[in-house]
Amino acid sequence: MNLAFFASHRGSNMQAIIDACKEGRLQAQPCVVISNNSGSGALLRAQAEGIPHYHRSSNTHPDPDRLDEEMCRLLQHHRTDLVILAGYMRKLGPKTLAEYRGRILNIHPALLPRHGGQGMYGSHVHEAVLAAGDRETGVTIHLVDEEYDRGAIIAQARVPVLETDTVDTLAARVLETEHRFFVETLVEIAQGKLDL
Ligand code: GRF
Repeated sequence: MNLAFFASHRGSNMQAIIDACKEGRLQAQPCVVISNNSGSGALLRAQAEGIPHYHRSSNTHPDPDRLDEEMCRLLQHHRTDLVILAGYMRKLGPKTLAEYRGRILNIHPALLPRHGGQGMYGSHVHEAVLAAGDRETGVTIHLVDEEYDRGAIIAQARVPVLETDTVDTLAARVLETEHRFFVETLVEIAQGKLDL
């Protein structure tokens, strides 16, 4: 199972998955990393791991259709089986979505459909959870379609919200769960126990 990653910033979820592949816990191989951010931690991690990596964005390809075609070309060139959005802050184009429909996963740091959609990323999500007084939050892994955070839910893990939580403590607890749960979910997919 060849895994392609799209990531915009830190890339810690991507790293957790790469580590699981390297340690043989996940029967899969990272094949390519694409980032819209030339200075992203994700690209540095890919470089350190010796994984082919590319900066592709409206800066490198101002025409959205050309960018979409280029993304598709890179995914195909590296023989991608599954596309993983790991903190990717852009929408994929129609050609990429059509070519890999049902094979693109995103991770969201809350229990969708709560606290999702445009603008709900990073600390905004955890702020919303605390403001709503939710007693639990979690992690959602879902298929990607044309809209942010809307595709079919594949798996969810619950995370308690403590009365003493701040955005930072809650974010740290959710992120720890993300790293573990993303790998666990991919293991189930690789073993054929979870159908996409
Ligand atoms: C994660 O919280 C993920 O749920 C969200 O973006 C964040 C990415 O973090 N989609 P990282 O880049 O994997 O460290």
